[in-house]
Amino acid sequence: MSLSREQMLAEMGITPRWVLREDSPLRPAAVPDQPDQCTVVAEPVPVSVSAPEVAVPVAMPVSRKAPQVSPSSVAVDGLDWPDLAHTVANCRACTLCEQRKQAVLGVGDLNPDWLFVGEGPGADEDVKGEPFVGQAGKLLDAMLASLDIARGNKVYIANAVKCRPPGNRTPEAGEMASCRPYLERQIALLKPKIIVLLGKAAVHAVLGEDKSLASLRGQPFEYGGVPVVVTYHPAYLLRNLPEKAKAWEDLLFARRILRQAASPNLPF
Ligand code: URA
Repeated sequence: MSLSREQMLAEMGITPRWVLREDSPLRPAAVPDQPDQCTVVAEPVPVSVSAPEVAVPVAMPVSRKAPQVSPSSVAVDGLDWPDLAHTVANCRACTLCEQRKQAVLGVGDLNPDWLFVGEGPGADEDVKGEPFVGQAGKLLDAMLASLDIARGNKVYIANAVKCRPPGNRTPEAGEMASCRPYLERQIALLKPKIIVLLGKAAVHAVLGEDKSLASLRGQPFEYGGVPVVVTYHPAYLLRNLPEKAKAWEDLLFARRILRQAASPNLPF
């Protein structure tokens, strides 16, 4: 059953609903009912030589004999989507590979405006091969809906690490460093117009910043020329409901940056 926008906002705990004024230049354009590129397939698919329009979770056989070698940025730099998916699926660069069911590369539109980066797959994602499909994912979907965007339509979702940290612990700095070339390559291929970092691990992985989220929110950062905004991780928001309003502010901040980049004459 799909939730209405009103229900999504209620789900995010954002009530009364915040509505942009009719005459606001920030008012979103109507979103079509059937987005062109929103095909997110949970079934494993074979990797083909031509890049798909929409990234889907790819279940690849894991070579247990592969040596544990960190992927260098150089080795990953030139990879296209199928090769990147194959490399990540077979990665043995850190010990996270030992307990994963599968690596989770990411999902969504390969020509996105938005890139959301989380921490790492949890139990549900490890099984399904797709990021943010558990409770935190439901909240993330509600956050996207509150922006009138949807998973797979102008949005790509990835994680700082591609394999589930055992017990859903926070990934260690070394694990994030091992995985970083993959995220860097994803960003280079996706060329998003804005990156939203969900939680401290994503901030560490992309910005190399370890300050508190509270001190980083509301500021524009940049990664390789792409604007970056920091907000709370949905799992944190589920435990700290009053913070949802702050996450909503952060998303509006990100949307203003995105819109102003498209129309520099708009007031911020
Ligand atoms: N939390 C994350 O950070 N990523 C996921 O994919 C799921 C939960």
